Amino acid sequence: MSTPAMDGAPQGEGGRPAGEQRKLRAALISADDQLRGVVFETIRDAGLPIGVDLDIAASAEFLAPEHMERLRATEPHLVILDMTDDPERAIRSAGAIAASHPRAALVGVGPELDASGLLDAMRAGLVEYVPRPVETTAVREALGRVMRKQGWAEAGGSTSKGQLLAFFSPKGGSGSTSVVTNVGIELHRLTGRKTLLVDLDLELGEIASLLGVRPRFHFVDLIRNFHRMDADLLASYIESHESGVHVLSAPFEPEIGEQVSGEQISRILGFLRDHYDYVLIDTSKSLAPPALAALQAADSIFLVTNMDVPSLRNLKRCLPTLDRVTAGDPGRLRLVVNRFNPKSLVGLQDLEETLGIEVYRTLTNDYETVIQSISTGRPLVLHGSSDYARQLKDLARDIVGGSAGAKAQKSSLMGRLRSRFRSKSNRSRSTLTAAPLEATSHG
Ligand SMILES: Nc1ncnc2c1ncn2[C@@H]1O[C@H](COP(=O)(O)OP(=O)(O)OP(=O)(O)O)[C@@H](O)[C@H]1O
Ligand SMILES: [Mg+2]
Repeated sequence: MSTPAMDGAPQGEGGRPAGEQRKLRAALISADDQLRGVVFETIRDAGLPIGVDLDIAASAEFLAPEHMERLRATEPHLVILDMTDDPERAIRSAGAIAASHPRAALVGVGPELDASGLLDAMRAGLVEYVPRPVETTAVREALGRVMRKQGWAEAGGSTSKGQLLAFFSPKGGSGSTSVVTNVGIELHRLTGRKTLLVDLDLELGEIASLLGVRPRFHFVDLIRNFHRMDADLLASYIESHESGVHVLSAPFEPEIGEQVSGEQISRILGFLRDHYDYVLIDTSKSLAPPALAALQAADSIFLVTNMDVPSLRNLKRCLPTLDRVTAGDPGRLRLVVNRFNPKSLVGLQDLEETLGIEVYRTLTNDYETVIQSISTGRPLVLHGSSDYARQLKDLARDIVGGSAGAKAQKSSLMGRLRSRFRSKSNRSRSTLTAAPLEATSHG
């Protein structure tokens, strides 16, 4: 079994006194002392675990071979580039840095860019762009987003445990995976909080393929190395989706999942909720020990069902077990009726009476939209405006409690690019088509 590479995550520095906090290595490239001041001040005042190990007093557009050499020696996790004087040339420098430091997160600072400029910046490898005039708040937010996206914990973050949300369908094909994936993405989009999707369908989990991500490691790898797990090692088992949501994949070979016990699941979920604000679990259809342990640990259990008789029969048969795992607290169960058809033989009232649970949400039947999203790996809450997508967003908003704003994500590079692209394409037929943006965002 291979050991995950650690170079994408913050590591301890040789010679650092024991107990001192591990820091991300950052490189700052700017000829502007004022910007330098703002960056240092932000890191200090926000208590970010970032050390500026390399401070190059030059503009990003005029990087000399000597600067590239110093970058190579530093191996930074984060590079902050001042692109003010000549953004076009600086974007080329960013491309060169990204090529030689593929794991480093690049943050640009410079004048307001139009949509095609932002797109070029993103293509060159920038993950954030802070337009001038630069203020500490904007730098703080950009660095915070980078740290969350990269799975680097922020200093001074909350130590309280995250919410554990389990999604369970007693009958296959009810839509559980589509729901959990979209809700997870929307929760992250609404709150900007660290969100993890855990694929506990250990035999045939599909979250990774639904999102178009190619995991290097999976849940069982994490179990095997759990004895030496810490935040850094955890980061190397997790894949990051373009939305910022993290994914812990199901095993690649179905038979591996059989080795997992309920006790292992309980311990791992306890660990994961210490590191994430939201942990969403796609449980399998079975009530085998791993799924039971997840349901037991969950703060809320979303029962995803269709309205046909076999689905209801299965759900009813599971109710005594669900009662047991919720220890008589039925408030933890939330009934979500997927593929809802108001004309179906079984009505919502029949359903509620049969199960003794109120319907929490209905999601419309829209096969075309859902299958298209599944086949293309494009989550509906990001790419669709269907009723189904809207209902999933409402479901996520319910979970947040209606209080979340989209503030944290609003000014991300991706967010600004999307909003500009939208306003541009609304205004006129622009030369910028959807294709390159999509290609980039899946790149
Ligand atoms: N709201 C919906 N309207 C129409 N079809 C849907 C809807 N939700 C899901 N489906 C269809 O149901 C199928 C199964 O979806 P999904 O994989 O999300 O369900 P699942 O419960 O996770 O299934 P599995 O048992 O395979 O894990 C998909 O082919 C999808 O097209
Ligand atoms: Mg599934």
